[in-house]
Amino acid sequence: MTASAFFVGGLALASPLCLAPLAGVTAAPVREFFTRLGAALTHTEMVSCAGLVRANRKTSDMLETLPGEGPVILQLFGGEADTVARGAEVALELKGARGGPAFAGLGLNMACPMPKVTRRGAGAALLNVPSEAFEMTRRLKRLGLPVWVKMRRVSEGKNEDTIRFVEGLLDAGAENVCIHGRTAAQRYEGRSDRTVVAEAARRFPGRIAASGDVRTPEDVREYLDAGCAAVMLARGALANPWLFPESLRALELPIPGGFLDPSPELRGAELSRLGERARALCGERLAVVLLKRLMGGMLRGMSGAAELRRRAGCASDLDALLEVFRAGMAVD
Ligand SMILES: Cc1cc2nc3c(=O)[nH]c(=O)nc-3n(C[C@H](O)[C@H](O)[C@H](O)COP(=O)(O)O)c2cc1C
Repeated sequence: MTASAFFVGGLALASPLCLAPLAGVTAAPVREFFTRLGAALTHTEMVSCAGLVRANRKTSDMLETLPGEGPVILQLFGGEADTVARGAEVALELKGARGGPAFAGLGLNMACPMPKVTRRGAGAALLNVPSEAFEMTRRLKRLGLPVWVKMRRVSEGKNEDTIRFVEGLLDAGAENVCIHGRTAAQRYEGRSDRTVVAEAARRFPGRIAASGDVRTPEDVREYLDAGCAAVMLARGALANPWLFPESLRALELPIPGGFLDPSPELRGAELSRLGERARALCGERLAVVLLKRLMGGMLRGMSGAAELRRRAGCASDLDALLEVFRAGMAVD
């Protein structure tokens, strides 16, 4: 299998394994970290189109990309096609001026069930307004980049509502539609329905990515065997970042060096690197939050992990945390 052997949503990817959009987590240093572990594509956090149009500073800071990243989808959200189209234009202009690797595609969030998003008519609220959802897809498509939409299962019971919505998005020009098999009402609870994802993959070959309950390489395999073009790793990758190399192995695809049976030094070095990069880009406080979130999974299966986790839990600042890694995992 050669590199870039997978053509997904208008992009050539090294594998079908992507990091799902994860608001509050997928800042540039975290995306870079997962790229190193084997994610073939990542997403930005949710970027507000209204915020872009208002020239909100915090919003435009979310456009940062790093040279060490792979393909990144700019994940946009908004409630009206006009705002989304204008916001996307502003984002691309700003990105051009800021520099850094360009975005590989434009993502549209039609999945977020949180009231602060849905009450603005954005995220999963768009599932109730197909005409607006399709129009914003058409408008983004004109900007020349592949459009990736992420949506939820539209309703309980019959799959047909979801299939019809997916068809509308594809007709409007979406290159890829990722379906999370939970309804918005389920939020993040209960099981994610795989039948609806599999049915969409069968009906629209090569155009569907899967999300929902991806915790093991077998889960990845199941979605791919059902015909999905790509699989999004979300909470499974937060709980165990090694799910990327483990899944690549199960698929017999190339794995980044040393990551299959990682030594304590390698684990410590990757965590330290992430901490330093996050501090430089996002500040000390967020760097500590992100490290503590990913640390448990990075130490998984390592002897002495429980004690290291305990000591790291007591560290109040980044330097103290990095010192725990240095002492416990022989990081230079
Ligand atoms: C912390 C967190 C943040 C998320 N942020 C986003 C987001 O910004 N956009 C989106 O479409 N989905 C978001 N999701 C949903 C995930 O991308 C994924 O679809 C969902 O977690 C289901 O996959 P899982 O069951 O394997 O975790 C988020 C999930 C979590 C846990």
